[in-house]
Amino acid sequence: MRGYFGIGVEQISKGGNVGNLMRSAHSFGANFFFAIQPAFDLKDIHAADTSGSFDHMPYHQYDDPQDLALPEGCQLVGIELIRDSIELPSFKHPLRAAYVLGPEMGSLSPELQEKCDHIIHIPMKFCVNVSIAGALVMYDRLISMKRFPPRPVKAGGPTEDVANHTFGHRRKIRKKESP
Ligand SMILES: C[S@@+](CC[C@H](N)C(=O)[O-])C[C@H]1O[C@@H](n2cnc3c(N)ncnc32)[C@H](O)[C@@H]1O
Repeated sequence: MRGYFGIGVEQISKGGNVGNLMRSAHSFGANFFFAIQPAFDLKDIHAADTSGSFDHMPYHQYDDPQDLALPEGCQLVGIELIRDSIELPSFKHPLRAAYVLGPEMGSLSPELQEKCDHIIHIPMKFCVNVSIAGALVMYDRLISMKRFPPRPVKAGGPTEDVANHTFGHRRKIRKKESP
């Protein structure tokens, strides 16, 4: 799949949630994981992180939202159920993205929201568990950025192969005419 992504959490307080999210991130192919001001014991993460994600994904920790450092050109995407945020099914994922989720009992801090290039929400009646929200966003990235055979008209599996990739037109480079 083209591009890369990382995912992280702000002020998370339950190791089990981080462990679940890390396991999903590892499985969806995240390139890095981060936590801003976490309030949990790392041992708890290891208990819930049954896929050994720490051995396979770089982990970064920050004491303050202002310290968050992302790779050059990587866009920060806040995941929060707030007014005026973009509905996930209508969102075009950046090629280079870092997704960030809020705490179990609150929302992304105003400082972090200010740093976000985009804020998205999963349209639903009320908030779901933070690790579920992260998994839904990673799944949406997968199905919107990876090429799969199209869904058929009738219920059931695909009836067509994945469409051949069409390359963009090459721009012709004109030779400079001699005087
Ligand atoms: C359980 S929610 C926090 C509680 C929520 N702010 C409230 O009091 O209603 C934890 C985190 O999960 C994410 N989240 C949960 N459901 C979401 C949704 N439908 N859309 C976007 N983010 C969601 C957000 O990052 C949120 O900060």
